[in-house]
Amino acid sequence: MKRIALLIILGGLFAAGCYYDVEEELYPSNCDTDIVTYSGVIAPIISTNCLVCHSTAANLGGVRLEGYNAIKIWVDNGRIAGAINHQSGFSPMPQNAPKLSSCNISKIEKWISDGAPNN
Ligand code: HEC
Repeated sequence: MKRIALLIILGGLFAAGCYYDVEEELYPSNCDTDIVTYSGVIAPIISTNCLVCHSTAANLGGVRLEGYNAIKIWVDNGRIAGAINHQSGFSPMPQNAPKLSSCNISKIEKWISDGAPNN
């Protein structure tokens, strides 16, 4: 009897784990886009995923994304949003790498829709 109870509990935990994984993938509800600042959220995402090619020194494709003033140019001309969403007519970014996570894309889009503040 004890053993069965244990199995049920373990089974429940396992099922909950699977359910959570699927849930997370379908609905990134744990993606916090409430407060998306340039310095706290956007700059680190860009630094991790883009600066290897788009630092001031690297400047691949003539695109510099290091620092607020540099990235703002590419926000204002609409190229960043198109590139990270792999929209047709844009070069898909990051180049030769998987798309950014949907959470990171949401954060960048939220920041842009907030007017891309330098905060
Ligand atoms: C491995 C190098 C590499 C990485 C990493 C990379 N890029 Fe690029 N990016 C390029 C090159 C090269 C070009 C210019 C050639 C082209 O447009 O395909 C470019 C072009 C762009 C453009 C102009 C695209 C257009 O259609 O006008 C934007 C905007 C851009 N990158 C943003 C990003 C962002 C944002 C990231 C990070 C999420 C990123 N890139 C990561 C190499 C890279």
